[in-house]
Amino acid sequence: MVGIPGAGKTTYARCNLGHAIRICLDDLRLMLSGHAFAPAIEPVVAVAADALRDSLAEVHLHCSLALAQRRNASRPNPVPAYIVEGFFRRLEPPTREEGFAEVIDVFVDEDSPA
Ligand SMILES: Nc1ncnc2c1ncn2[C@@H]1O[C@H](COP(=O)(O)OP(=O)(O)OP(=O)(O)O)[C@@H](O)[C@H]1O
Ligand SMILES: [Mg+2]
Repeated sequence: MVGIPGAGKTTYARCNLGHAIRICLDDLRLMLSGHAFAPAIEPVVAVAADALRDSLAEVHLHCSLALAQRRNASRPNPVPAYIVEGFFRRLEPPTREEGFAEVIDVFVDEDSPA
């Protein structure tokens, strides 16, 4: 999932994507090597993660800078406002050309339930 800090990615995923497949590198490590971390297996973990990711959809949560700043400021441990702004300026939208099976655009505003 892609979006600037404070946009609401975690909240959106909890409320709307409970059924979605989640790629967890630590789970892959355990499955492939039987260990939480084994340096020798890291190249295999990377290839497996890339292949899995490319077969799945990426969700791009679009959120205005002002809304993300407000949400970020209202949470218990906000990241500095300049960091949010930096992400907003640098964010590159995900594309199918990167290999994702699908890119889903979600637009949130003040009134979005999540
Ligand atoms: N639809 C919503 N309505 C009201 N408040 C929201 C909504 N979505 C998220 N929030 C609040 O905004 C703040 C940021 O949300 P959240 O943690 O989901 O963002 P995030 O994109 O996952 O941030 P990060 O990139 O830092 O992980 C939280 O305090 C959350 O409760
Ligand atoms: Mg989050």
